[in-house]
Amino acid sequence: MARDISTVGVVGLGTMGAGIAEVLARSGLDVVTVELDEAGVARGRGHLEHSTERALSGGKLDAPGRSALLDRIRYGTSLSDLSEVDFVIEAIPESFELKADVFAELDKITRPEVVFASNTSSLSITEIGVHTARPGKVVGMHFFNPAPVLKLVEIVKTVVTEPDVVAEVVEFAERLGKVPVVIGDRAGFIANALLFGYLNHAVRMYEQRYATREDLDAAMRFGCGYPMGPLALLDLIGLDTANEILESMYHQSRNRLHAPAPLLKQMITAGLLGRKTGRGFYTYD
Ligand code: CAA
Repeated sequence: MARDISTVGVVGLGTMGAGIAEVLARSGLDVVTVELDEAGVARGRGHLEHSTERALSGGKLDAPGRSALLDRIRYGTSLSDLSEVDFVIEAIPESFELKADVFAELDKITRPEVVFASNTSSLSITEIGVHTARPGKVVGMHFFNPAPVLKLVEIVKTVVTEPDVVAEVVEFAERLGKVPVVIGDRAGFIANALLFGYLNHAVRMYEQRYATREDLDAAMRFGCGYPMGPLALLDLIGLDTANEILESMYHQSRNRLHAPAPLLKQMITAGLLGRKTGRGFYTYD
């Protein structure tokens, strides 16, 4: 019988952390979030307000449901705020050192049976897990952007993850209304391993002036029924994040498909990271 999970900690309130907090609160869970400082909390609240506003205008939430959802989320700036939670999801930036420190700290603060999930898309869950005294209770729980809309959650198990923990996390993801898939600890997991070769190829085609950005995107939207074209999707993901994912897959597979396109790196150096900086392949207000 799975443990009762009623309060969940979310570390990091960027796009993904805020989206995950929304999903949890929407399922009736109490959520305790932790950011680095008050500015981070304000940014996270902003994401939540904006996203739930879209849910409201799209008829996915009513006004009382929206305020009940937002009321279930608490905000803090110290990991010690997570001492009483039943489950933790970490969604901080993709730095191994930062994540290892957070997990080591969480290990001291939370009850020993609490499961830790990382939303990492490019780091090894095995390596993160060994920074705790409970590597058998550390998994990946990889959500997709926008987390409140997309149903997939990849559950990443390592060679030491306890089978009961995998079963618990699968059940938990289903309780959130998500579709879980289980995968071993390999760079790219399932979806990114398939998706990013395609995205990278689109950047190369654009770089070689094969077609305009609009035509590249239109081809995949109207020819293949994808909701967004590859360059618009890269802007949504963030070019820096996409580059990290490609680097990590290339490092593991040495498949040239995953060697980041030179243009991607140049755009990152120039600060064109996509929607989050107002400019990537396209320009945003
Ligand atoms: N809660 C619930 N539903 C919400 C919502 C919220 N907070 N916000 C929006 N919605 C709903 C809307 O009501 C709408 O529903 P209908 O289709 O039933 O009308 C739907 O979500 C779409 O929302 P919008 O109309 O506001 O936006 P859109 O039509 O422009 O779609 C999109 C935007 C959802 C991003 C869509 O284009 C899409 O799915 N794109 C592909 C995204 C994708 O591939 N993401 C994966 C990236 S890879 C990744 O994330 C992994 C990684 O490691 C980087």
